[in-house]
Amino acid sequence: MAILITGGAGYIGSHTSVELLERGEELVLLDNFSNSDQRALDNIKKITGKDFQFYEGNMIDRELLERIFSENQIEAVIDFAAYKAVGESVQKPVEYYINNVSTVLVLLDTMKKFNVKSIVFSSSATVYGDPEVVPITEDTKTGNTTNPYGTSKLMVEQILKDLYHSDNEWNIAILRYFNPVGAHESGLIGEEPKGIPANLMPYIARVADGTLKELSVFGNDYNTPDGTGVRDYIHVVDLAIGHLKALDKLRKDKQGMHIYNLGTGVGYSVLDMVKAFEKANHVRIPYKIAPRRAGDIATCYSDPTKAKVELGFEAKRTLEDMCKDSWNFQKQLK
Ligand code: UFG
Repeated sequence: MAILITGGAGYIGSHTSVELLERGEELVLLDNFSNSDQRALDNIKKITGKDFQFYEGNMIDRELLERIFSENQIEAVIDFAAYKAVGESVQKPVEYYINNVSTVLVLLDTMKKFNVKSIVFSSSATVYGDPEVVPITEDTKTGNTTNPYGTSKLMVEQILKDLYHSDNEWNIAILRYFNPVGAHESGLIGEEPKGIPANLMPYIARVADGTLKELSVFGNDYNTPDGTGVRDYIHVVDLAIGHLKALDKLRKDKQGMHIYNLGTGVGYSVLDMVKAFEKANHVRIPYKIAPRRAGDIATCYSDPTKAKVELGFEAKRTLEDMCKDSWNFQKQLK
């Protein structure tokens, strides 16, 4: 029996595929390379020394999905395939809702047809909007999302809840990621955004290698210890391991509907990140203070207790690991 990984060549999908292959799982990957690269597939094989089935295409393609489910014995799906750029989603809402919501409907319908009822879904801490209190538990109110990306994740969460209510044989884990950063320690896979990075860590890495001149720190007048935004950064390999733990839970319970935060429980500011990157990698990151970015919130970090108690999941990698591994990956791109 195989696990189908949609978006398997992407940032989180590739790291999760590595961890799954390393513990001996059989995998089928699907990707259309809209925000990823063929090289990631070769590098997954290089890191693990293992092979997998690969299909190129879009999840909206029902015929392709049916072919995948007919040609393979799929036990469960881990669904990573989605667009994820917050700013872009404001400009292209229709594309985001098609790619992040309609595709999942086709996937779920196909899963129903083939009687595969286990799914781990990539969600995001953005579903909490601007939280009234931190740390954020899974019971914190969701909604008031500030962009179509966040809304698309919330919509799929609702669809999954409705599906479970309609049929309790479904076995669903929704994982709400905080801020994934870092790369595999080999430096062979990592985050490689096309164009100018929108997220903090890849931007810092490109300032470090001289591709970009300086970092703009978006606001230093927030109500935080140093005035800059605070986030819960989690190493992507820890995040990947969270998916294995969620899969174990589905296998054990056989049916159910679960939601977990995947974070460290610790918040760092933008300036903490700059200093940590400089210290870990012996580089300088020039920065300037710029106006606040529209839609940003002051503080967002998780309460990771539920994942620890129910999944036995705990993020182990430090901020120094995140900074070193990001830089190690960035250096080999040049
Ligand atoms: N920031 C800067 N300068 C930059 C980029 C970011 O100061 O050039 C600041 C932001 O203002 C924020 C912090 O760095 O305070 C983190 O920003 P990111 O853009 O890296 O991440 P966000 O917290 O905005 O979260 C977004 C999405 C999440 C997603 C996450 C990582 O909302 O869903 O990016 O991809 F998980």
